[in-house]
Amino acid sequence: MISLSLNTQTLVVSVCVGLLVYYVIKRLRYRLPPGPWCIPVIGHYQIYSAPSLHRQVVELSKTYGPVVRLSVGPSTWVFLNNFDVVLEALVKRNADFAGRTPFPSGEMFTEGGKDIVLSTYTPTWKFHRKVAGKALRHYLQGDLLENMIQDNMTKFLDKMAEEKEPFEFSTYANLMVYHQLYTICFGEKKSPDDPEVMSLLKLDEELIETWGVGLFMLFEDAFPYLKDICPTKTWRNLTRITEDMFKVIRTKFYEHKATFQSGVNRDFTDSLLKARQEAENEGDEDALEKLTDTHLIQTIMDIFLAGTETTRFTMDWFMSFISGIPEIQMKCQEEIDRVVGSDRISMKHRNALDFTEACLFETWRRASLVALSIPHATICDTKVGGYDIPKGTTVLINIWALHNDPNYWKDPEKFDPYRFLDENGKLKPTRPESWLPFSAGRRVCLGETLARPDILLMCANLLQRFEIHLPEGVKPQLGGKVLSEGMDVPVDYKIVVRERQKQ
Ligand code: HEM
Repeated sequence: MISLSLNTQTLVVSVCVGLLVYYVIKRLRYRLPPGPWCIPVIGHYQIYSAPSLHRQVVELSKTYGPVVRLSVGPSTWVFLNNFDVVLEALVKRNADFAGRTPFPSGEMFTEGGKDIVLSTYTPTWKFHRKVAGKALRHYLQGDLLENMIQDNMTKFLDKMAEEKEPFEFSTYANLMVYHQLYTICFGEKKSPDDPEVMSLLKLDEELIETWGVGLFMLFEDAFPYLKDICPTKTWRNLTRITEDMFKVIRTKFYEHKATFQSGVNRDFTDSLLKARQEAENEGDEDALEKLTDTHLIQTIMDIFLAGTETTRFTMDWFMSFISGIPEIQMKCQEEIDRVVGSDRISMKHRNALDFTEACLFETWRRASLVALSIPHATICDTKVGGYDIPKGTTVLINIWALHNDPNYWKDPEKFDPYRFLDENGKLKPTRPESWLPFSAGRRVCLGETLARPDILLMCANLLQRFEIHLPEGVKPQLGGKVLSEGMDVPVDYKIVVRERQKQ
């Protein structure tokens, strides 16, 4: 008995001494960024588990400067909180910061990093990004995108027109976006209440609730061995949601594989199958190894999740601003009437909808949807802001801090689309520096070139057809609430819509 307790004591003392030595060596070897004191191993639990981490870190940066270090469990996270340090990391030292840190729940979801979003910076990741980027660009050709938007929007705008009582727009935003991404990925246009699309949407909502959107805070992520000994309820839930979601995507993928015809491109999935067929024709074994069914299914899931979550919350925020500020809404409608009249809104109108697009840019600034971006990781020892950042450090880009930096934005709380316009009401040729809703560098959002016209056309369709109001007597609330760590959504609101006179 005595010998057992002595052994335990020896073990505990050895671990503590080992950690202390490791800590001292690290501190001597590197000039790490500053941060508040914390209990080793436990880390800054009260900070990283609190809601609105992006805001909390801005408060810390007032004491510690733009580069702040926090400990999350046994690992170190570095937060970049102004434009200069973000530019240095993502653009000047781009590849250094282009990694991702593997973590248990991510590895489980991505079948060992076979995706794009969570996979680290490797030749395989680069190749998948290229293939997926090309497949997305397919939708920017000709009138493919505008036809799809038009069909999809008409379906849901007709339903909105039937609403007699105030209703939550988020329900429609979710459906519009889900149906659209479903058509992009799988070609089919489904009826508004299609059970398969509904079930995917429900699973996605459960996924966000369980997993969050940008930061991954499962207990098992900080203490991985727990998942094999006694997994938490959250871990078991995540496993179930993952299986259910992939079941749907896999079925669609194998249907496509069985009916794929060379020379016919029905959708994003066909574009991926085409890339594989090209590799087969060229006998490119290296490419074929990277284009297994698992990889392609993971890429579809990437596009589906990264595209739907961001787009539906953008639409919801846009509507909350536009319904709460009638004079801004009227200016958009004047512009749409002048540029489009009662015609069908199409890509050719895009470049003349300056004011409406400025409202969208301001929505992205003010909402800062993906507030802390998706965590990056350093792939080598590097530097930022004069500090050393060791290889393997998790780095968070505080997009919210950039978008609310008073050195760049006057009255950052105010929704003001004029920030993006010149004195003639045209979009300024370059965006303000501290505006990075899609992040930057090697990991910049893959869907930006699709998302910008897509969402602009969707918003313009809404405003062309409806006058949108808050219910009688309701005051606008333009603030957000935390949906899950890393993402704010508008506080709950309802709207009333009235058909506009055809111009
Ligand atoms: C609607 C507005 C959108 C916003 C504000 C947005 C924002 C972002 C941000 C901040 C990142 C993280 C970049 C980083 O790691 O530094 C990201 C990554 C990504 N986004 Fe978007 N996104 C949007 C729409 C879309 C759409 C529509 C798609 C696809 C159709 C998409 C696909 C992706 C993918 C695949 C990545 C991962 C890129 C990588 O890790 O290499 N996004 N996005």
